[in-house]
Amino acid sequence: MKKPPEGFKTIARTEKCPCAALCDDNRKLYGVQFHPEVSHTVYGRQIIRNFIFSICGCRPDWKAENFVESAIQKYKSVLSGKKVLLALSGGVDSTVAAALLHKAIGRNLICVFVDHGLLRKGEGDYVEKTLSGGLGINLVRVNAGDRFLTRLSGVSEPEKKRKIIGEEFIRVFEEEAKKLGAIDALAQGTIYPDVIESGSGGSAVIKSHHNVGGLPDVIAFKEIIEPLRDLFKDEVREVGEQLGLPGKLVWRQPFPGPGLAVRVTGEVTKEKLGLLREADVIFRKEIENAGLERKVNQYFAVLTDSRSVGVMGDTRTYGYTVALRAVTTDDFMTAEWARLPYEVLARASGRITNEVRGITRVVYDITSKPPATVEWE
Ligand code: XMP
Repeated sequence: MKKPPEGFKTIARTEKCPCAALCDDNRKLYGVQFHPEVSHTVYGRQIIRNFIFSICGCRPDWKAENFVESAIQKYKSVLSGKKVLLALSGGVDSTVAAALLHKAIGRNLICVFVDHGLLRKGEGDYVEKTLSGGLGINLVRVNAGDRFLTRLSGVSEPEKKRKIIGEEFIRVFEEEAKKLGAIDALAQGTIYPDVIESGSGGSAVIKSHHNVGGLPDVIAFKEIIEPLRDLFKDEVREVGEQLGLPGKLVWRQPFPGPGLAVRVTGEVTKEKLGLLREADVIFRKEIENAGLERKVNQYFAVLTDSRSVGVMGDTRTYGYTVALRAVTTDDFMTAEWARLPYEVLARASGRITNEVRGITRVVYDITSKPPATVEWE
């Protein structure tokens, strides 16, 4: 836009953009032609703050405590006597949604935890132990790893892998739901960024997030409950803590719905998943040992499809290459590769090649987002 429409005046311009911001003070309409929400935008936060607090007159009085209290009251009343089913992926969002609804309706909430066999080392057991053993949540765990692997066999195209996992997840969930008899409502851990990202805008699909609103279209439920729909990730974590979930669980880094399948490039096999799990746990441990876990926002290993020649003792080896990925970011929409100390990288690399037979080379990913994405697929 070069000229503002009638009633508006230009309030900011750049060398290239003659109208970078405009306003109509009478009607209280304001617009910008850049992204104030992106962390690289200087004064971006200030612009948003001014708009929300000074112009819209909102007050920063959101508190996890109040949210939890009023949500429990609300669901106690609207879900009274109803049976609610929740698809638990093992991630933070669905876990917090489960803990919240459990406080409201107790055993009437039935969580189906579809373990697709693509979680990190020990994660499925940990989730089950914490939710079922610790909190007493009514949880059905379905170990469907083999099913997912069969469907993924021979598939190496990333979007295809994501689609297959999404479909299979629904299928497994549907089968389990049928076994449970009459259910009144379906609950989901949808959070606000999911709502935005799966919105109706014309933006291109970079990656299809399988855990976004996929279930309701397929399974007909009278009622859909999304208690976290208006919350951002950090608010969800606060709510989780308020509900008494362990910090280790609530502050876990993001993990993609399709799991390790998008961190094994090319075809996903049991063998490759095994190698990746071991390398990943070593890398994460080394980051934690160095006290960097809160300084780096996401860190993990990727098993590339590339094999290379190495030497061990007097023998030739021919093993996989692991890529280590660590990023710093505010919002995961843009991200910088983390400047990890060489010693941390050296320890991780040394341990991985020594301890994980089948991995003979380790590389560090020094690409930011954009142009790369955080995940490799
Ligand atoms: P990308 O790779 O798109 O990732 O830069 C941005 C953030 O989103 C996470 N991610 C996912 N999260 N379902 C999710 O809930 C998904 O399918 C998915 N794919 C990527 C990724 O780990 C990063 O934090």
